[in-house]
Parts: sequence; structure tokens; C-alpha cells
Amino acid sequence: FGRHLHIREVVTSTQDVLRELAEEGAPEGTLVIAERQDNGRGRMGRSWVSPPGRGVSMSLLLRPDVPLQLAPQLTLLAAVALCRSLSRETGLPIGIKWPNDLLVDGRKISGILLESATEDERLRYVAVGLGIAVNLDAEDYPEELLARAASLKMAAGRAFDRATLIASVLLEFEQLYAVYKHQGFEPIRILWETYSVTLNRTFSLNAGKGFFDGVPRGLDENGGLRVELPDGRVRTIYSAEIGDAAP
Ligand code: BTN
Repeated sequence: FGRHLHIREVVTSTQDVLRELAEEGAPEGTLVIAERQDNGRGRMGRSWVSPPGRGVSMSLLLRPDVPLQLAPQLTLLAAVALCRSLSRETGLPIGIKWPNDLLVDGRKISGILLESATEDERLRYVAVGLGIAVNLDAEDYPEELLARAASLKMAAGRAFDRATLIASVLLEFEQLYAVYKHQGFEPIRILWETYSVTLNRTFSLNAGKGFFDGVPRGLDENGGLRVELPDGRVRTIYSAEIGDAAP
């Protein structure tokens, strides 16, 4: 991964550049990195802002030959790859919040956005967008975000070399993706559960139709989150907001 590398100074979103390259036939593993995004996107229609020079904003192209409904598996795989590589490089205790936010001490240090193109109910390609808050300082964040967001530098008390982190993420991603291709989702599922900080505690969840309380118990074989409801029934969700853990 990353052998086909496109480095840009300013883009709307690295996702846009990667999608254009994908449509032109770029190979799996193609990577777009930008110093500045004028229209960075987050999950759930939110925007993603990162000051130039201190974060990592990049998009990686996958061409998995799997049905559309297995896309959540790749979302979780991306989280595991990022979690493992960044933990190793920084020594920080990084956990995964469902489905793919990375947290240190409850604060988000990285986000992942998957966008896919499909044909006949199969994935034609997937653009995996990775945003990592590497060397941002507290002054870079609006006051109201500081309780929920941090950078690797703020958490570790030292700065990190971005190129080293990127290389480590790509290597880990490539290795896990090879495992996924040969052995399927099960090894990834187990790793995700190991790093998750959102299992076996009561959370307020929103899967589109208002909040409900539930206890996430684990993943199913497709990558859905199995949530135990107060009445004991189990509901599987594929996309949801997780609110705060109940006290
Ligand atoms: C989230 O947590 O909501 C996901 C954030 C994803 C941000 C990255 S930065 C690189 C890529 N390009 C984008 O526009 N978004 C992703």
C-alpha cells in the first residue's frame, strides 16, 4: 500500500481526489495525502477540520471483491489497523469506539470515513479516509471540543514524525487486509473486540430513530454490533451514534 502515492498541497477532500483516480483505474493501495483540505468530510455528514502541517489527512484505495453488505467489515478493519500501528508507534493506550473512532482517555485522536462505489450489489472500490490528529496543540481546538478531542502529541507529551506514522499505518493495513483476504473477517472481528472500549457497558445509542439504551456485547460475523436491550432482546446495528456511557 502507498506505492502509488499522490501528495497534494491543497485539496477539497482527499476522498474526492482518490475517487477520481479510482474511476480512472488506479490500482488497489493507491494513496492520496494532502496537507490541507478545504472541504474535509467526517462521518454522518459532518465536516473534518485539521490545521495544515500538524495532522495526517489521507485516503487509501481498496478494491475488495465482496458484496456491498460486507462494507462494515472494512470499516472495522481500518480501525484495527490504525489502532495497532498508532499504539505501537506512540505507546499510548488507544481504544476503538464503535465503529471506528480512536480514543485515548475518552478523547478522539483519529477518525475514519469509508465511501464506496458499487455495481450489482458488490463493492467496486472503497475509499478509506483516515484523519489523524498528530501534532496539534490544545490551542488548535475550539474550547468546547477539548473534553472530547485530543492529539497524539497532547496525549503523549511529545511530537511524532508524520511520515513514520503513515508508513506504519500502511504496513499494518496491508498486513491485516491480507489476513482478511485469506482468512475472512473472523481474525479481524476478534482483534476489534480486543481493542474496543465500547463493549459490556450501558450506552445511549442512536441508530437513526432516536436514542435507546443498550449494552454492546460484540460483533456479528458481518461486522454489525450486537446490542443487548434492557428487556434482554439483542438488536444488531450497522451504523449508529454512540452517546455517553451511563454513569
Ligand atoms: C470521522 O471521524 O467523522 C471521520 C473523519 C475522516 C477524516 C478523513 S481526513 C482524510 C479523508 N478525507 C476526508 O475528507 N475525510 C477523511
